[in-house]
Amino acid sequence: MLILGIESSCDETAASIAKDHTEILSNVVASQVDEHKQYGGVVPEIASRRHCENILWVVKKALRDADVTLSDLDGIAVTAYPGLIGALLVGVNFAKGLALAANKPLVPVHHLAGHIASNYIAHPQLKPPYLCLVVSGGHSHLVEVLSYTQFRILGRTRDDAAGECFDKCARAMGYPYPGGVHLDKASKSGNPEAFKLPKPKIADNDYDFSFSGLKTAVINLLHNAQQKGTEICREDLAASVQHTIAEVLTDHTIRAAREHGYSTIAIAGGVSANSGVRSTLQRACEKNGYALYMPPLSLCGDNGAMIACAGSYAFDAGIRADASLNASATMELMAWGALGQDHEYPSTTKT
Ligand code: KG4
Ligand code: ZN
Repeated sequence: MLILGIESSCDETAASIAKDHTEILSNVVASQVDEHKQYGGVVPEIASRRHCENILWVVKKALRDADVTLSDLDGIAVTAYPGLIGALLVGVNFAKGLALAANKPLVPVHHLAGHIASNYIAHPQLKPPYLCLVVSGGHSHLVEVLSYTQFRILGRTRDDAAGECFDKCARAMGYPYPGGVHLDKASKSGNPEAFKLPKPKIADNDYDFSFSGLKTAVINLLHNAQQKGTEICREDLAASVQHTIAEVLTDHTIRAAREHGYSTIAIAGGVSANSGVRSTLQRACEKNGYALYMPPLSLCGDNGAMIACAGSYAFDAGIRADASLNASATMELMAWGALGQDHEYPSTTKT
């Protein structure tokens, strides 16, 4: 089975061909990050315009690199939700036109299901059910992965997403956009115990996250130091922020695994590239005897391969759209799974 996956939900125009779900024949990404950097964040209108300019050559290259023609495809998958609406609409409309012209099934994909699928590419032995921490620039979700297309959300952020917190703290510390990766690099030479930063106190039986208090504490700390004319060691602060975020994410994940009976855990999304988050979660999983799956760094950020892979499983589950498909900035992961034919939640044998 050959599925073309198209991704344009934020600032990457990407396309990929997946064979039999997890074998990636091509993976093309056109990143706009250098252009958005000068504004300190993604400018939605610029993102949409660049997607318009890039999408044709990106898709053509994905087909060429895979040595595949449109007629060889079994389906065309596209990220339809959630994300920046103008950016999503470019990919969705392009995919609709292509599906119509080539007379191929159109498969709408949820972006977070795409991130979750990145682990199947790297670790085809990973099979649902398991628990996945999905942490990106826009989302922080603790998800029960019930099947390849069915999910239950145990916890989510109440304010800023983990990636957003990394980026906002990094920005306040003077690092360029997107700051998460710069903060990660700086942490390597800092002391993670140098600053005691607040961890959100949400009820013990709750898996939700909250990162805005941490962000505000970092901004206040920097502001007060500036007013007093005192120096703050950026590396120490970076390491302390990373350590705090990694601990919060890990604590919630391990508690959810224990309380819901999972011993297989995965992490996905842009923040899964963070070295502190990876090592803290890895240590905790080893200590508890849990198996941990993490995507390789090349598949942590937005890419077409994860959409082609998720699209292949969605194709199997009967998730389809016609020419009336619209994008949505906010669609829920669980609502996407219900688009399939087999939308009863399966009873799960936990692994
Ligand atoms: O999944 P993603 O590429 O896009 C969204 O779907 O949002 O995630 C992007 C987020 C950004 O906030 C970026 O700063 C963060 O992932 N990120 C990192 C690292 N690499 C990317 N955050 C912390 N450490 C990293 N190494
Ligand atoms: Zn993403």
